[in-house]
Amino acid sequence: MALTSELGKQIKLKEVEGTLLQPATVDNWSEIQSFEAKPDDLLICTYPKAGTTWIQEIVDMIEQNGDVEKCQRTIIQHRHPFIEWARPPQPSVLVLRRCFLLNYFKGVEKAKAMPSPRILKTHLSTQLLPPSFWENNCKFLYVARNAKDCMVSYYHFQRMNHMLPDPGTWEEYFETFINGKVVWGSWFDHVKGWWEMKDRYQILFLFYEDIKRDPKHEIRKVVQFMGKNMDETVIDKIVQETSFEKMKENPMTNRSTVSKSIMDQSISSFMRKGTVGDWKNHFTVAQNERFDEIYRKKMEGTSINFCMEL
Ligand code: A3P
Repeated sequence: MALTSELGKQIKLKEVEGTLLQPATVDNWSEIQSFEAKPDDLLICTYPKAGTTWIQEIVDMIEQNGDVEKCQRTIIQHRHPFIEWARPPQPSVLVLRRCFLLNYFKGVEKAKAMPSPRILKTHLSTQLLPPSFWENNCKFLYVARNAKDCMVSYYHFQRMNHMLPDPGTWEEYFETFINGKVVWGSWFDHVKGWWEMKDRYQILFLFYEDIKRDPKHEIRKVVQFMGKNMDETVIDKIVQETSFEKMKENPMTNRSTVSKSIMDQSISSFMRKGTVGDWKNHFTVAQNERFDEIYRKKMEGTSINFCMEL
């Protein structure tokens, strides 16, 4: 599937089992699928734009016992290897690649090089996850965000991210999203799949909206899930340091270090609004009715419930 980006660049997405993925991911698919998880791995799992960066920063703050300086050691994208991420070599780094840095841009290689216990990240659905994560009964931390806010956030992200196809108009994107024709596939299948697995594996299933409403309560759940003991004062500090306002100003989380040719934050900020219910500023009444109807059909039989506004 080829889609033209704003720069006029052709972004040729590829598919695995009907799910659109970035071409470099698909080109490295057998290596990704054969990735060997370890029993003490913790995997952060999300659908794109569900609050991945937010939960990563929370998890890292817990891991570092609330030490802000330690969390500043590197940008968030480098702290938790993104297992399906692969990036083809850029012309300027071909020379470096010849210097045996052959796998530098592969998430699986970064994960392999990481000492245990590892904290890793994925956007993959349950269906596409490397099987060794299930076989090793790893811990999974899943964050779900309501579909309408995810759609809005993804739309603005595709506008500013030149590695992804141009989303077109909001009306066009509405169709693209409900048909699951976005990178990492259908929101409905992703959320349903992880929800259905949650009682069979060690999955802590959280909601973006709950973290927003009562961060301390949800952070306590993560602390417990990670098997840590933590003073209330440290938890309070983590709540403060992982607020939207703090993370928007933090160069280690706000993607300001990413080149404008990849993410143009003059089009839309990576830390855009960080709210629940922004969908109301985008959906028309007709779109909302249609979406609700589609949602009912696609999510039929699931017990999951989302908060749509705070
Ligand atoms: P919006 O575009 O709605 O603002 P991801 O990290 O999965 O790409 O998700 C990005 C979304 O999470 C963006 O949503 C971003 O603003 C929001 N986000 C990031 N950090 C946040 C925080 N500390 N509190 C609330 N929302 C946050």
